Amino acid sequence: MAIYPDLAGKVVLVTGGASGIGEAIVRGFANQDARVGFVDIDDAAGSALAEELTAAGKTVYFEHLDLRDVQALQSGIETIRQALGTIGVLVNNAAHDERHPAPEVTPDYFDDRIAVNLRHQFFASQAVLPDMKAAGGGAIICMSSISWMAGFGGMPIYTASKAAVIGMVRSLARDFGPDNIRVNAVTPGWIITKRQLELWLTPEADAERNARQSLKRRIYPDDIAKLTLFLASEDASAITAQNYIADGGWV
Ligand SMILES: NC(=O)c1ccc[n+]([C@@H]2O[C@H](COP(=O)([O-])OP(=O)(O)OC[C@H]3O[C@@H](n4cnc5c(N)ncnc54)[C@H](O)[C@@H]3O)[C@@H](O)[C@H]2O)c1
Repeated sequence: MAIYPDLAGKVVLVTGGASGIGEAIVRGFANQDARVGFVDIDDAAGSALAEELTAAGKTVYFEHLDLRDVQALQSGIETIRQALGTIGVLVNNAAHDERHPAPEVTPDYFDDRIAVNLRHQFFASQAVLPDMKAAGGGAIICMSSISWMAGFGGMPIYTASKAAVIGMVRSLARDFGPDNIRVNAVTPGWIITKRQLELWLTPEADAERNARQSLKRRIYPDDIAKLTLFLASEDASAITAQNYIADGGWV
């Protein structure tokens, strides 16, 4: 991966960093010698990752957090600020792609899906705003998904949340831009994480993925981490309010 010297020493907050794409992003920033704080509900994976990277000489801090609880999110971010310093980069990565047939969705479940897939992205961005203002700038990267662009069925509240991320990014970029805070979206295609391998990647689904993509290879978490590092770095200093699709040419 490329090295971005301006990321060294920068405090980076990654949500959902214990596994999948978030883990690759945590590893990517640690490799840049950034000071990485990450939050997750998966304590075992989060602690193991933080211990491994700390043992390798990196500055990495894991905090247990259920992002559906906005008050806990706000105090968790304060804990990371106390531990690592003023937050300069936020990666809103956490989500949950549990399938939900439309006839079975209750109002409570609807709210829960919005809470896990959209709401925390806004409140984490709000919470780091004072840090980035005080620092004279910052970068926020929000994960969307091609699922809403490609019109996937079976998880309408997830896809609605991921479409909303793009609208939120465009508005926050406008609102935060005068403080030199850049806000961009990353839209992954089908990224072959451990969870995707275990749950969904049948030989038939893999063949369909290959047929739909222009590039005839699997796209991995590191492919998303590379794009995220670039957007967080000063090499992307003129880029804001944009959405970058990394899907091997699916949509
Ligand atoms: N993998 C894909 O194919 C794919 C495709 C499009 C978009 N995305 C997006 O990329 C991002 C990462 O996806 P992934 O595949 O790595 O997901 P994943 O499910 O493998 O990992 C998500 C992480 O978030 C954590 N998390 C879930 N709920 C949480 C909560 N309430 N509080 C705190 N942490 C919580 C999980 O424990 C996990 O570590 C998501 O925003 C997802 O929507 C992924």
